Amino acid sequence: MATRVPTVAFEGIEARAVDVQVQIIPGAVHFTVVGLPDKAVAESRERVRGALIASGLALPAKRITVNLAPADLPKEGSHYDLPIALGVMAAIGALPGDALAGYCVLGELALDGSITAVNGVLPAAIAAGSRGLGLICPAASGPEAAWAGGDLDVLAPRSLIQLANHFKGSQVMARPEPAIATPGGPMPDLSDIKGQEGAKRALEIAAAGGHNLLMNGPPGAGKSMLAARLPSILPPLSPRELLDVSMIQSVAGALREGRLSDRRPFRQPHHSASMAALVGGGINARPGEASLAHGGVLFLDELPEFTPQVLDSLRQPMETGEVMIARANHRVTYPARFQLVAAMNPCRCGQALEPGYACRRGPNERCMAQYGARISGPLLDRIDLRIEVPAVTAADLILPSPVEGSREAAARVAAARRLQNDRYAARGLPAATTNATCPATVIEEVASPDADGAALIRAAAESMRLSARGFHRTLRVARTLADLDGEARVRRLHLAEALSYRGRGDKPAAAA
Ligand SMILES: Nc1ncnc2c1ncn2[C@@H]1O[C@H](COP(=O)(O)OP(=O)(O)O)[C@@H](O)[C@H]1O
Ligand SMILES: [Mg+2]
Repeated sequence: MATRVPTVAFEGIEARAVDVQVQIIPGAVHFTVVGLPDKAVAESRERVRGALIASGLALPAKRITVNLAPADLPKEGSHYDLPIALGVMAAIGALPGDALAGYCVLGELALDGSITAVNGVLPAAIAAGSRGLGLICPAASGPEAAWAGGDLDVLAPRSLIQLANHFKGSQVMARPEPAIATPGGPMPDLSDIKGQEGAKRALEIAAAGGHNLLMNGPPGAGKSMLAARLPSILPPLSPRELLDVSMIQSVAGALREGRLSDRRPFRQPHHSASMAALVGGGINARPGEASLAHGGVLFLDELPEFTPQVLDSLRQPMETGEVMIARANHRVTYPARFQLVAAMNPCRCGQALEPGYACRRGPNERCMAQYGARISGPLLDRIDLRIEVPAVTAADLILPSPVEGSREAAARVAAARRLQNDRYAARGLPAATTNATCPATVIEEVASPDADGAALIRAAAESMRLSARGFHRTLRVARTLADLDGEARVRRLHLAEALSYRGRGDKPAAAA
């Protein structure tokens, strides 16, 4: 008879049910693992053998077959060690026969019999709960598993021996407690920035409506500094978002000590990042920066320095909110709904917009066009707010620090976000929580301007040759401006300000 131990295989952040079946029959001494295992799973045998011996259990001199079912689901990772070892222990009578019934098991083994942390414990715990099972996971991952709900039975042993003692009743383990990450020091504050009132206003609007933002300005203007202060004015993750974001971090192995954080992610990949690093994939399917930024901010500093193909790979997630990675024999998707914030110099010399500056390589306009051409039109098209950040003047720098900082801005952002949440929840659009993610048809309705505003946008559409997407983008930003003012109706002044954030990036698109 074979023993069965439930475990999981990960497809994206979904934990699919997998059964580890262990059969021990008389025959030549042999230990095989079948059922589409990858290399790490195949190596499980050696770790399981070593860990059992270290725990004082010799493998029987018989034929041991481990089958991972269903066989057509690819099995990756090292978390099959523990279910295999427990299956063998149950089969040789080292664990009571019914001990494992009702538990989903995952964990990696060290050769000394201790159980080491694995990725993906949070989604596994949630999946176990929904299947009416408890969870056995490594001690280090226990606090993470405890987040899946108070009624989930979680066992988080340090070693095989501790687990065996628990089942014998000689050393009963306590349920782990959910842990929250202690914030790593205060976040940089907006009050550090002198002058740049326009850019700070744009940053607040981006935070309030979840809009993508592109900052264009000479080196040293404070663009990187501004972007780094966006997290300090964003609202914390809601409980629902917290779980979604943490599931991705769990699968990526980015949760430290199983602790969850309600801070929005802020990811800042370097411009040398590969496509696999940015959108995910590679040898072991892993979430990329775009997915790790889910629910938060993806900051691309020096945007034109990224490889154009790498940048274009972001278009799909920006459209659909998820990344799809094709693997050899299957596909995985990861959520990737992020807010894009990008910074760039206007040209390679960096100074083309400075009055009186002449670019080294020909006319300023050409220098800027060449540099800007590295960013594709469709990507630019997805950026609602484009601003110019001028060099900060000496007069601004010697001023005292501004009295208003991130706290005041964050309060205004939170109020505007509440209005948006309520508005879209009332319309039955749970996927849209901000004006930036609201569908175009709905934004036409919720941002329909008053008569004065309608006249302005009609005139602007003609004189600025607004495209359909440009029109919707203006409405989205105007809606956020009205929300920041706490007004139900979008007015002329909101539209006028929204039109001012269209930036010069639109001009080539309109001419094309
Ligand atoms: N508005 C500002 N107020 C105070 N310091 C500033 C400001 N702008 C720039 N700085 C200083 O200049 C440095 C460079 O700014 P940075 O954000 O890296 O510029 P950029 O990314 O635009 O090239 C900052 O670390 C900061 O010390
Ligand atoms: Mg910079």
